[in-house]
Amino acid sequence: VKNLFLVRHGESYFNLENRIGGDSELTPNGWAQAQALAAHFKQTNIPNIYTSTKKRTVQTARPISEMQKNAQVMQLKEFNEINAGTCEYMSYDEIRREKPEVFYSRTKDKYNYIYPEGEGYVTLKHRVDRGLKKAIYLSGNATYIMIIGHQAVNRMILAHFLYRRKEDVPYIYTPQDRYFHIVSTQSKKLFELKRY
Ligand code: F6P
Repeated sequence: VKNLFLVRHGESYFNLENRIGGDSELTPNGWAQAQALAAHFKQTNIPNIYTSTKKRTVQTARPISEMQKNAQVMQLKEFNEINAGTCEYMSYDEIRREKPEVFYSRTKDKYNYIYPEGEGYVTLKHRVDRGLKKAIYLSGNATYIMIIGHQAVNRMILAHFLYRRKEDVPYIYTPQDRYFHIVSTQSKKLFELKRY
């Protein structure tokens, strides 16, 4: 694999409500983003596209997989979003009000904080690394691959390729109308945030 296009899923209903986790679908705006993504890559042959098993990433992949002639789309559960345990489905405001101990402990050390009955960035790392290994293996010597993931997952993928201090990883900017183009070989390291 020479080039990785790292995309976050389009806007979901939970994104609109600021709710975390769950398995909500794309909003009309999210579908428009998925269409724009497909149009942007019309001239690029991407044989392997990986998503999580969540609806919002699978739906984001639909237009581009229809436009690409030979694309194989594969769902990897290793790329599912961080499991927020007892806080799944809550908004950040609700967590702050109803579970202040979670809110403040997480704010203090976001990388190492593990949600009750869930995950933290520190544990997510192993799962995402496994997914990446799988994706790279399955893609053989493809020039281009795409991963359509989630906010925390994409931060871990970026951190895998590009050195980042652990404390900074949970704050990497992962907008929904842009993608990261990552080239990581022994001789070349490149990482660009581009609009689609
Ligand atoms: O808000 C969308 C989301 O993907 C949630 O499902 C997830 O818990 C969160 O982002 C991760 O981001 P952060 O670590 O900044 O809360």
